[in-house]
Amino acid sequence: MCGITGYKGKRNASEIVIKGLKKLEYRGYDSWGIAIKTDNHLNVIKRIGKIGDVSSKELKLKKSSFGIAHTRWATTGKVTQENAHPHLSMDNKIAVVHNGIIENYQELKKFLTKQGFKFRSETDTEVIPQFIQYFMDKGNSFNDAVINTIKKLEGRFAIVAINKDYDTMIGARRGSPLVLGVGKDEFFLASDIPAFLEYTKDVIFLDDNEIVFINSKTEIRNFQTNKKVEKKTEKIDWDAKEAEKGSFPHFMLKEILEQKESIARAVNQDLDEIKRIAKLINDAFGVFIVGCGTAGKVCHTATYLFSRIADKHVNFSFSSEFPNYQHFLTDKTLMIAVSQSGETADTLEAIEAAKKKGVKVLSIVNVYGSSMTRISDYNIYVKSGPEKCVASTKVTTGQLAILTMLAYACAGKLEEGTKLIKQTITDINKTINDSYLKKIKSLAEKIRDNESMYIIGRGLNYPIALESAIKLQEVSYIHAEGFAGGELKHGPLALIDNKTPCIALVANDETKADILSNAEEVKSRAGLIIGVAPENNPAFDYWLEVPDSGNCSPIVNIIPVQLLAYYLSTLKGIDPDYPKNLAKCVSVK
Ligand code: G6P
Repeated sequence: MCGITGYKGKRNASEIVIKGLKKLEYRGYDSWGIAIKTDNHLNVIKRIGKIGDVSSKELKLKKSSFGIAHTRWATTGKVTQENAHPHLSMDNKIAVVHNGIIENYQELKKFLTKQGFKFRSETDTEVIPQFIQYFMDKGNSFNDAVINTIKKLEGRFAIVAINKDYDTMIGARRGSPLVLGVGKDEFFLASDIPAFLEYTKDVIFLDDNEIVFINSKTEIRNFQTNKKVEKKTEKIDWDAKEAEKGSFPHFMLKEILEQKESIARAVNQDLDEIKRIAKLINDAFGVFIVGCGTAGKVCHTATYLFSRIADKHVNFSFSSEFPNYQHFLTDKTLMIAVSQSGETADTLEAIEAAKKKGVKVLSIVNVYGSSMTRISDYNIYVKSGPEKCVASTKVTTGQLAILTMLAYACAGKLEEGTKLIKQTITDINKTINDSYLKKIKSLAEKIRDNESMYIIGRGLNYPIALESAIKLQEVSYIHAEGFAGGELKHGPLALIDNKTPCIALVANDETKADILSNAEEVKSRAGLIIGVAPENNPAFDYWLEVPDSGNCSPIVNIIPVQLLAYYLSTLKGIDPDYPKNLAKCVSVK
C-alpha cells in the first residue's frame, strides 16, 4: 500500500530511487513520482500507471546525490497526476513522500487554508509539506519543522522529506514501515528492504515514533521525547536475486514453483522453541488466531488443524473483526497473528487492541523486522524469502506448514508432524513437473471464458475452498466463490448450470465420501467438475492429482488451484503480479 524510497550518497540518486520503486511496485502501482534535488532545485516528475520500464535517462534528470520517490495505491484522492506523490509545499521548496493515512488531514487542511495555503491535490499527504513550510515560515529549522508537523498527524504514516535548501533527508514513521539501509558513505530509506538490497545488506529498522536525520551521518531520535535513540545495524541474510523474476515470466509462477523449497524452510525451525510455543498455546485461557485475506484463510484452516490434531479450540477472526471480541480477552489469552508482510493495518490494530488487555501475541510473519514482529511477544518467521506477486502463494503454504507443526506440537506429537510435512514436501516435488503444468494450462484454456466458478471443500478443505476463490478472483477476475460442501443444497446449487465449473477439493479423510457426493450433486445439474484429489473418481470431468497427505491436504490442494489461477490470468492477458485495484501490503484500514 504505497512504496516510498529515498537515497543520499555518492551514486546517481535518480537511478537508485527509480530502481527502488520498481522493486516496491508490488505495494501499489496506480501512479508514481520522484523528486531529485539538484543545485538547490527540486526536479519533480509524476506519472499515472506503473513505473514499468522507465529509466532515469529517459526522464532526462540531472545527476544528483539526493532524491525521493513513491509508488501509489490510491486511498485519499483519485488516481490523477496531481494526487501522485511527491507532494510539495506551496513555495515548492519541500517535497514529501508518504505511506499510510493521515486521519485528521481535513482539520489540518482547513487550518492551513485559513492561513492562506493553497492546495493542489485531494490527498491527505499534501498537509505534510504545507505544515513543514508553515513552521519554517515561523522560523523553525527544517528538522524542527518536520518534528512539529508529524506531532500534529493522527493515523499511520511513514514519510521521507527533503528541502531544496538543506542537505538533510528526513524519514519518520508511526505504524507504517520504514527501513534505513546503511552503505559506505551512502544511505537509503525504503518501505521494504528489496528497494536497496543490491547495494547494502546492513539495515536499521526504525520503530514507531522514530525520526532519522540523514546527512553525511545519521541521527535517530524519538520525535515524541526528542531523545536520541541508539539502534543496532542488522545484516540481512537475503540474496538480491531472490527478489528478481529471473527467467520466469511472472513472480507468481516463480513463487508457486518455489514452494518445492520454501515449505521446507518454513518448518526448519528450532524445535525446542516450537515446543515452548506449543506450551503457551496449551496453557492459554483462550486462543485467538487473526489475519486478513489469504492469511485469514490460513488462520481459518488452523482452527480445523488444532481441533483435529490437538483437540484444541482456537477462535478465528478476521483481524478487522477482532475488536468485536475484545470483551473475551484477559491477560491469559494468547493471540496468534498471521501475516506475510507484517504490516497489514487491520492486523496491527488487532494486536494493539489485544495488547491493551494484556494478551500475549505470537506472530507468524514472513517479512523480517516488520512492524508486527516488533510489537509481538513471540515470532515465528515463515522464511519464504521475498514474495512479490500480490497474490500470496509460497507464504500461504509456509504458514500452513508452521501451523500444522504447531498443532502437532500441542498434541505432543511434533515428530509425527514434522515427518508428515517432510513426506508431503517430497511428494509435492514429485508431482509438480512440466507435464503437470501443461495439464493445468490446458484445463485453463478450456474454462477461460467462464464467468463464474465455484469451489467446494469440507473440513480442512473448506477454508481452502475460500482461499481458492480468493486466488481465482485476484488474478483471473473470474467471479469465484467457495462453499462448504454441505451448504450447497441450501442455496448455491441454484446457481449451477452447464457453464459453471466447480472445483471439488478432496482429502482422503472422513469428509471424502460426502464431498464426492456433493460433487455428484453439482454434476447432475450439468456443472463441470474439476476434482483436486489423491485419486480419480467418476464424479470428475477433470482430475488434478495431488499427493495423499493426510493433515497436510490443505497444503497440497491449494497448489494446483494457484497454478490454475495463474494460467487463467495469463491466458486472459492479465498481469497476475499486479492485479487491478489490489496491493500486496495493505497498510490502511
Ligand atoms: C492483501 C494482499 C493479500 C494478503 C492480505 C493480507 O490483501 O493482496 O495477498 O493475503 O493483504 O496481507 P498480509 O501481509 O497480512 O498477509
